Amino acid sequence: SGSHTADLVVFGGTGDLSMRKLIPALYHSDRDGRLSPETRVIAMSRGGLTDADFRGKVDAEVRDQVPIDDPAVWQRFLGRLHHVSVDVGDHGKDADRSGWGALTRLLAGHEQRDRVFYLASPPRTFGPFCRGVDEAGLVTPRSRVVLEKPLGNDLPSAQRINDEVGAIFGEHQIFRIDHYLGKETVQNLLVLRFANAFLEPIWNSLWIDHVQITAAETVGTPGRRGYYDHAGALRDMVQNHLLQLLTLTAMEPPARNDREAIRDEKVKVLQALRPITGTEADRFTVRGQYVEAGGMPGYLDEPASTPTTEASRRVETFTAIRAEVKNWRWAGVPFYLRTGKRMPHRRSEIVVQFKDVPHSIFPGGAPNRLVLRLQPEEGIELHIMAKEPGAGEVTLKPVPMSLSFGKTFTARVPEAYERLLTDVLAGNPTLFMRRDEVEAAWRWIDPILAAWESSAELPEPYPAGTTGPAGAHELLGRSGRAWHEEEK
Ligand code: BG6
Repeated sequence: SGSHTADLVVFGGTGDLSMRKLIPALYHSDRDGRLSPETRVIAMSRGGLTDADFRGKVDAEVRDQVPIDDPAVWQRFLGRLHHVSVDVGDHGKDADRSGWGALTRLLAGHEQRDRVFYLASPPRTFGPFCRGVDEAGLVTPRSRVVLEKPLGNDLPSAQRINDEVGAIFGEHQIFRIDHYLGKETVQNLLVLRFANAFLEPIWNSLWIDHVQITAAETVGTPGRRGYYDHAGALRDMVQNHLLQLLTLTAMEPPARNDREAIRDEKVKVLQALRPITGTEADRFTVRGQYVEAGGMPGYLDEPASTPTTEASRRVETFTAIRAEVKNWRWAGVPFYLRTGKRMPHRRSEIVVQFKDVPHSIFPGGAPNRLVLRLQPEEGIELHIMAKEPGAGEVTLKPVPMSLSFGKTFTARVPEAYERLLTDVLAGNPTLFMRRDEVEAAWRWIDPILAAWESSAELPEPYPAGTTGPAGAHELLGRSGRAWHEEEK
C-alpha cells in the first residue's frame, strides 16, 4: 500500500484552503496508510514560521476537524510538516531569494522522490512561482504542479496562465484542480453510465426531455467581496464546476478508462456547446443578486474588507442558463444550469428528466426523473410512477427508488480533496482539467460575460433564503418545465 515517497510543497500553505481542506485530507491519507513513511508536506507562506510554529498551528487549528483515534498517528503526521518562508511578489525576480534557498536545502538529495508543487495561492502568483522553482533548479523529471482555481477570469487570462506554467512544466505534469471532480457522486456518474447496460440506450434526445444541473448554497459571501465582486457566480461556479458536471453527463462513452480518452470526450462536449452571444443572453441567461431578507444581509451589506463599488452592484450571486449541446445525441435537449448563494437549501444535483409516456391510460402522472445528488447526502434516485394503494380509482404518485451511498456502503465517504490529492501523488490526472478543456469552457463563458457587461440592467434582486429571481423560474416555465425541488 501507499504511494511513492513524495515531497509536497504547498505554496499558500498556511491559507484557508490548506488549513481547511488540504491538511485534513493529507491526515486522512496518512491515517488510512496511503502516505509513504518518508513523505513530507512543506508549507510555504510569508508567515516567517519555523517548522515547530507550523506544527503548532496545525495542532491548534486542525486537530478538532479530524478524527484522532491514535495520538501517535497524529504526532507522526505533524512530524511530516515543514515550513519555509517565501515572498513571491508579482515579479518573481524581485522576490526574496532566501525562501528559495531554504526550500532548495530542504529538497536537496531528494531528487528521486516525486515532487509536487501545489499552488494554493492567487493565480497571479502562478507564473512567478513556477519561474522561482525553475530558476532555483528545483524542477525534476518527477515534478508535478497543481493549480487551484480560479484559472483566469476570461479566455485570454487563462491562456496567459497556461502559457506561463507551460513554459516550465509539460502538460503531463500540470494538474488543474476542479474539486467537484473529486466528489464521489461525480465519479459515480461515470460508473452509473458506463458500468450499467440499461441507461446508455435511453441516454439521448429520443428519451430525455431536458437536464438540470443545480449547485445551490445557503452560504453568502461574507468577507469575500474583494474576490467575489470580480468573479460572480458564472466565473466562480459555472465555468468550472457546473460545466464539468455537464460534460460528464453529456459525454460519449470513452473507449478506455484512461486519462486522455475521458478528457478527449469531455472536451468534445464543451466544443459542441451552442454559443450564447449578444441579445441571446437576455433569453437564455438569468442573473440575480440576493437582498436582505429573513435576518440575512443582502450582498451589498455583507461584512467585507473592501467598500462596495459599481462592480458590487453588478455582480451576480445567482445565475441560471439554458445551455444546448449541439450534437447528434443531444440536439434539442436543454441543459439548464443553476447556481446561487443564499438559497434555502444546500443542494447540488444533476436531474435528468425523461420524456413523458407517449400515451397515457391513467389520469395524472409525471415524467420519470433520475436525480444524482452530490450533496448534502450523496445518492441516486429514480422517480417512477407508482399506484397509490387503495381499492378505488387508480391514483398515480411519483415515488423515488433511491440509493443512498451513506446507507448502502459502510465505508467513510472521503472528501473530494482526499481523492484528488491521492491522484496527484499517484500521478493520475484523469480527474484534473486539461488545458484545452479549461480554455474551451472559457470560450463559451466569455460571450456571456461580454453580453452581461454591456447590458444596462443590474442583476434581478432575490430575497436571501429563496430559490432565486423570478426570471429563473420563467426560464423553464415558458416551455412548460419546472425546476426539480424536493417534495418535503
Ligand atoms: C468554490 C467556490 O469553488 O466552491 C465557492 O469558490 C463555493 O464560492 C464552493 O462556495 C462550493 O463548493 P462545495 O464543495 O461546498 O459545493
